[in-house]
Amino acid sequence: MQSKIDSLRVEIEEALKGDVNREAFKAAREKYLSKKGIVPSLMTELRNFSPEERPVMGKLINEFKVWAEARFDEVEEGIKKAELEKKNSAEAVDVTMPGIRNNTGALHPITLVKKELIDILSGLGFEIFEGPEIETDYYNFTALNVPKDHPARDAQDTFYFSDDILLRTHTSPGQIRTMLSKKPPIKVIVPGRVFRCDDDATHTPMFHQMEGLLVDKNITLCHLYGMLDRLAKSLFSDDVKTRLRPSYFPFTEPSVEVDVTCCECGGSGCGLCKGTGWIEVLGAGMVNRNVLIECGLDPEEYSGFAFGIGLDRIAMLKYGMNNIHILFDNDIRTLKQFKKHDK
Ligand code: PHE
Repeated sequence: MQSKIDSLRVEIEEALKGDVNREAFKAAREKYLSKKGIVPSLMTELRNFSPEERPVMGKLINEFKVWAEARFDEVEEGIKKAELEKKNSAEAVDVTMPGIRNNTGALHPITLVKKELIDILSGLGFEIFEGPEIETDYYNFTALNVPKDHPARDAQDTFYFSDDILLRTHTSPGQIRTMLSKKPPIKVIVPGRVFRCDDDATHTPMFHQMEGLLVDKNITLCHLYGMLDRLAKSLFSDDVKTRLRPSYFPFTEPSVEVDVTCCECGGSGCGLCKGTGWIEVLGAGMVNRNVLIECGLDPEEYSGFAFGIGLDRIAMLKYGMNNIHILFDNDIRTLKQFKKHDK
């Protein structure tokens, strides 16, 4: 038995010699150590020995089996280690290689303008308020001092669902909704989408506005002018100049239009400003006393100013676009260019 064990030991060492691969290793372990393998079946030979010899032989076989198992385990460890090393070296990171950039996309120019305006105006103490896009005639017109037969309703070119329900034509209903739900001092901005039946190079049926409203005691046109001048400078650049031009809106009195010096020519006159040196950027005015009364506020006690900014128009001016449709064509080549503006 001893000599048989010795020659089996040599045979096993032979099978496990050198860089044995996993397949050969598995086959050898099957051959020698599986249930019916050569080593366990040595036990069946015990019956050829006398009862006295059997325990001695059994011990020999057991010891050999323990040795063989340990030997196979050891070789398997070696194979696993070699495999791991191979895998690690294949996966090694070359830190000098250029990285793979994530394609992150860019914010839409209107979103950029909206974010910037919110940033400036919240810095001046305005809170954000949002109203519905589907409005009633009351909030969109009547409460804003635009009665049923008022010609301004025509100018708005409204999308009606019914006599009473419409797509809001401006964010000004936000003024009414805030004044009805809050006591002064009121200082809000209302960003949102608005809708009018208009479609040409500078108009789309859907566009974006941001309303501003401030109501408190002793508010004057000077407050409005000072605030809008700061706003224009923050939005464009510190050297733009602003001016107020008399205008008309039913819900403000007096009403003004605000011009800034042309961003293209700096005020000397060019095609963009039609030779005037000025560009109109928003409508504003002192809240009409009829509107204050409609919202339950005493015009002898309170006064306020309101303004409405067209976000699309500001985006066109800021980013040098001559056709509003560029904003809505969603051409990836245009949108891509706004990555650098996205802070
Ligand atoms: N709602 C007006 C418009 O859409 C703009 C505006 C807002 C004017 C607030 C005055 C005050 O044209």
